[in-house]
Amino acid sequence: CGIVGYIGNEQASDILLKGLHKLEYRGYDSAGIAVVDNDGVSVYKEKGRIAALEETVNGQATGTIGIGHTRWATHGAPSRDNAHPHQSISGRFTLVHNGVIENYQQLQQHYLDRVSLRSQTDTEIIVQLVEKFSQEGLKTEAAFRRTLALLKGSYALALIDNDDEETIYVGKNKSPLLVGLGEGKNVIASDAMAMLHTTKQFIEIMDEEVVIVTRDSVQVKDLEGTVQTREPFVTDIDESDTEKGTYEHFMLKEIDEQPFVIRNIIQKYQDEDGDIKLEEDIRAAINHSDRIYILAAGTSYHAGLVGKEMIEKIGQKPVEVHIASEFLYNQPLLSEKPLFIFISQSGETADSRGVLVNVKKQGHPSITITNVPGSTLSREADFTLHTYAGPEIAVASTKAYTAQMAVMSILAMDIARARDIESDFNAIQQLGLAANAMETLCDQKDVMEGIAKEYLSETRNCFFIGRALDYHVVLEGALKLKEISYIQAEGFAGGELKHGTIALIEEGTPVIAVTTQNHVNLNTRGNLQEVVARGAKPCVIASEINQQEGDNIVLPDMHEVMTPIVSVIPLQLISYYAAMHRGCDVDKPRNLAKSVTVE
Ligand code: G6P
Repeated sequence: CGIVGYIGNEQASDILLKGLHKLEYRGYDSAGIAVVDNDGVSVYKEKGRIAALEETVNGQATGTIGIGHTRWATHGAPSRDNAHPHQSISGRFTLVHNGVIENYQQLQQHYLDRVSLRSQTDTEIIVQLVEKFSQEGLKTEAAFRRTLALLKGSYALALIDNDDEETIYVGKNKSPLLVGLGEGKNVIASDAMAMLHTTKQFIEIMDEEVVIVTRDSVQVKDLEGTVQTREPFVTDIDESDTEKGTYEHFMLKEIDEQPFVIRNIIQKYQDEDGDIKLEEDIRAAINHSDRIYILAAGTSYHAGLVGKEMIEKIGQKPVEVHIASEFLYNQPLLSEKPLFIFISQSGETADSRGVLVNVKKQGHPSITITNVPGSTLSREADFTLHTYAGPEIAVASTKAYTAQMAVMSILAMDIARARDIESDFNAIQQLGLAANAMETLCDQKDVMEGIAKEYLSETRNCFFIGRALDYHVVLEGALKLKEISYIQAEGFAGGELKHGTIALIEEGTPVIAVTTQNHVNLNTRGNLQEVVARGAKPCVIASEINQQEGDNIVLPDMHEVMTPIVSVIPLQLISYYAAMHRGCDVDKPRNLAKSVTVE
């Protein structure tokens, strides 16, 4: 979910709706805004996308103060009733919330057993509690702070009080939140991107803090009410980077941006002599460790699998890769001196953050590899490696994934150097070659579109196979396809399909094989023959050295650990065109959110 708020002299609804559009990547089940007007506060809500809410609002909301929300349902189905903002029984307080309140049932039983609630959300408890405490005599700010002190879980909140319409009360714990500063206006947003049309100057809010926001002032306090000082920062995100330009979809724009992103990474991580430069402290922390643990979710987890191969093969240091949500409640036995690397495009994924909090308590060092340097994971880890991919808007990750792998190739090379390991691997040179190869593949869109049409326009399912590094890439290829086209797609280690899943192969079932790893090329081809013999329709993506007659796509040859950065491009494009031709909403697939700030 994402929240926004505005207090100033312009029409709040326009600013809030524009902000919510930019936050749609955080969820788009339902949305709502509340605007202070002559009647007090008017609330507009709608199930579905922001566009649906816009139609409901239809220019009727007039007022210069307001809050807004876009939702990814956790408690309660996506419906108009469960959409935010939520109001207290008397209608005096109106609230938007991103996060999950874990103890809401206990709070309801203890404090609100006589209140008949209107929704099934954990959020409503918060606004009813504020009302209860204010009815008991507390001023709004004190009632707000008292409520927040009772909450267990995550929240970014904005609250309006009808009896004091010139203030927005803001609170934060674990969920991201920024307050933006302007002349005679101030704004609130889950992400700076949402409010770039109003300001570029923001202040960070820390966990368990409240902020009292008026047109001309912003006051940060802790939950006891002690004032905190905070310096503003100016964000360097360019608003035009958050627009689609001439592209029909953000996803295609972001796929096409990948060669540029890789060249940008080369530049950022190079010193004047063209050599790589990483912070000395990062190098020292890695050197001191005896094993690296990579933690991530979704696509970033798939990048982690490739990162392990890079670090082990080039840097010769042992690496384990774990799914964050599993590690969180089932921590494996650790080595004596572990070092943790968190990979996260958004830097906000709650599952990964949960692990970071735990391992910090255990005293272990940590690095975050992220596309958002000011994000929670970046702030809380000891070190950050920035992926410099620019804002990624499409829910299905593309350029952030290749950027993560690119940064890990640099890291792998640095580890090798720090350990005096003889290697002819030059990450900078390899990345330059990868960027060129990506460009060549991005120019073959007609080929990828043809494959999507031929293999995927009718099918119910699709299998991907690969061995060694190709296996990690096909996992990502399958995830991409299922995320945006809803085709049931699975990636398999080439040799594993025959141990069960081959039962699903029928006449015409598409099987996409990736074969870039020379030493297992013939094995993968053998596995493909096994499914072809049972009716599968094969599609082969092979590197030049492995090329055979009839292969569908040929990839330029690369160093074995760098192939995923290139071989994923056709998989991304095939998924894109498959989703397009099946009439799916490519940038905002059903049920998903780009940044999942709940566990
Ligand atoms: C969500 C997104 C995925 C993403 C995952 C991890 O589930 O839909 O595309 O890979 O979160 O996100 P992160 O920001 O931590 O990389």
